[in-house]
Amino acid sequence: MSRFSFLLLLLFSISTMAQNVTVIPQPLKVEHGEGQFVINSRTKIIDRTIDRANAEYLQQMLQPVFVKKLEIKTSGARGIVLKTEEKLLKELGEEGYELEISKKSILITGASSKGVFYGLQTIRQLLPENLNLSQKELVLSCVRIKDKPRFSWRAFMLDEARYFKGMTQVKKILDQMALLKMNVFHWHLTDDQGWRIEIKKYPKLTSVGSYRNSTQIGGWNSSELSGKPHSGFYTQEQIKEIIAYATKRGITIIPEIEMPGHASAAIAAYPWLGTIGTIQEVPAVFGKLPDSYNVSDPLVYEFLEGVLNEVVDLFPSKIIHIGGDEVKFDAWKESEQVQKFMKEKSLTSPTDLQIYFTNKISNFIDQKNHRMMGWNEILGGNVHEWQDADDVKTTETLAKSSIIHFWKGSLDLVKDAVSKGYEIVNSHHIFTYLDYNYKSIPLEKAYSFDPIPEGLEKEYHSKILGSGCQMWSEWIPKETDLEKMVFPRLAAYAAVGWTAKERKDYSLFRTNLNFFLQYWESQGIVVAPKFEKKDFN
Ligand code: ACM
Repeated sequence: MSRFSFLLLLLFSISTMAQNVTVIPQPLKVEHGEGQFVINSRTKIIDRTIDRANAEYLQQMLQPVFVKKLEIKTSGARGIVLKTEEKLLKELGEEGYELEISKKSILITGASSKGVFYGLQTIRQLLPENLNLSQKELVLSCVRIKDKPRFSWRAFMLDEARYFKGMTQVKKILDQMALLKMNVFHWHLTDDQGWRIEIKKYPKLTSVGSYRNSTQIGGWNSSELSGKPHSGFYTQEQIKEIIAYATKRGITIIPEIEMPGHASAAIAAYPWLGTIGTIQEVPAVFGKLPDSYNVSDPLVYEFLEGVLNEVVDLFPSKIIHIGGDEVKFDAWKESEQVQKFMKEKSLTSPTDLQIYFTNKISNFIDQKNHRMMGWNEILGGNVHEWQDADDVKTTETLAKSSIIHFWKGSLDLVKDAVSKGYEIVNSHHIFTYLDYNYKSIPLEKAYSFDPIPEGLEKEYHSKILGSGCQMWSEWIPKETDLEKMVFPRLAAYAAVGWTAKERKDYSLFRTNLNFFLQYWESQGIVVAPKFEKKDFN
């Protein structure tokens, strides 16, 4: 190679390198500078934000390195400066930030505390993976970053109904979400196999509904049972503790209370809620179970409103997820009472009955100044191959305030829904289900997901709020099983939600993942041993 072409190559690689940092999700704009900033035990944290939370978070983050806490001051310019400037809201949004590392200072500016918090998460990834080893100094290269998320909804869903995981595991996941700038913890708290949230008005939901005496094991077609009881639920006090933990990390918790299907645990607790009326105990088997709430009974609405009253009071989130997926309609079709009700209300299909029910619940939630969200079956339409075409004929219209959580069916359904004015969170199962193995969803496929369906007209893009990834837990009894499915894909989904489309680059992502692979190991998190497409060829 001639000296000239070597120089050209060097220049070229500097100019391309200059746009990226070893951070996941990759920020919007990066400009490298010259020199370094050195943090040592005398470095000051200068807090010019609206509260001390971020300064204290940084202090705690660095404490193990220098053994002592760095001093927090409220004025000065040399040190690590944290600043909020409301006038930047238009440019950066609530979650964006600017980060400037120069030889004299580190300056993180956000329009709000959330932005400053995300600036700190970027700093965290520019530091060594393991901060538990005491060191004299930490060195950061000079850089200027301007960053904000592509989507406002960047969710991880945990199904604790199938297996209860508990507070320690939830907090561990919330920590990882925060580092990856994910902001919604969608908590699937009720399902056929367990009810996991204390409701004071209906104590049997947990005294009966949180316990099952055995569990199906060995896969969907297996008839084997574990023979071991499983139980667990959160008290409202524990939930408050988790909410506070999440809030500190910029994460909103969206509770999901499943209705009208996936409700066998509640029906086991209060059998009058059911349509068939044969459930004696919380089911041990998974799949789509036959009974659903009897939506023709006023007492059922009274019960659900009682539950939702407590849920709304407990969670600061303005959105409540009501499930709504996979209702088996036979129970309603075979119930005289339900059929009579449908005639009275001129409802011609079970889907219309579900929409009628969902609208009543949506109305109730709206009146409480909240919004209802549900899986895309709440819109009606032909979603499942096992459904009878006549059953899914839809004439009723779902309340327009509903947020549609798309997971299954044709992408045309998304296009149709946004054109009718609905907002969507896109969790298309073939890309975002964490219970699917790595052969089905290797890391690169997870990373490649675009929540905006191809061909969707630009005018509707803002209707796509973002996406979620879902850890369904039927076959996930242990923490380590869960971690292997979640890590490293969580990092890919974080990038899906945050990184600008034109900034996505899998090979860069894969290189930057090395930080996380080491970091997770230092945190005792178990990562899948194989997660690349080539591992399964
Ligand atoms: C779902 O996976 N049943 C939403």
